[in-house]
Amino acid sequence: MLDLGIGTGETTKRILEAYPQAQITGLDSSPTWSSAPRAGRGRTAGPHGGPASGRALDLVISVLSVHHLTDDEKHLLFRRVREQSQALVLGDVVKADVQVASLEPRSTFPIRDELAEWCGGEVVWTADDLAVVVANYR
Ligand SMILES: C[S@@+](CC[C@H](N)C(=O)[O-])C[C@H]1O[C@@H](n2cnc3c(N)ncnc32)[C@H](O)[C@@H]1O
Repeated sequence: MLDLGIGTGETTKRILEAYPQAQITGLDSSPTWSSAPRAGRGRTAGPHGGPASGRALDLVISVLSVHHLTDDEKHLLFRRVREQSQALVLGDVVKADVQVASLEPRSTFPIRDELAEWCGGEVVWTADDLAVVVANYR
């Protein structure tokens, strides 16, 4: 599986604790990845970004990372993930009545149903301005 925006790898570490046989590669644009398990440096959008080749990925996850992208970059990323992975699990900030996350000027937040629609999935969990979306492309 691929963890987009792996950061320090907190989510990946928990997945590896629960599923020690899992093979996880991480991608991040920041040097913070250096402490994460099996991470590489790269951007998740743009001409050279995103998953590299084939549709061999069982799962792509991204936790609190996709909101750094513009809406156009999100659409591009979701299209690539859909082409190259069997499934996507996305946990991120959405536009909501109670906005807990601090807003970066560049960031835009879709409402949770839009986020689910953009990646062809469904919202499975929400709390204030957080949502988890699961998309199955099989
Ligand atoms: C809140 S942290 C991620 C936390 C991590 N997913 C976890 O579960 O512990 C957000 C990460 O997204 C990364 N990031 C932001 N924009 C990115 C981009 N365009 N491509 C790759 N990584 C990006 C940042 O460098 C940062 O490490």
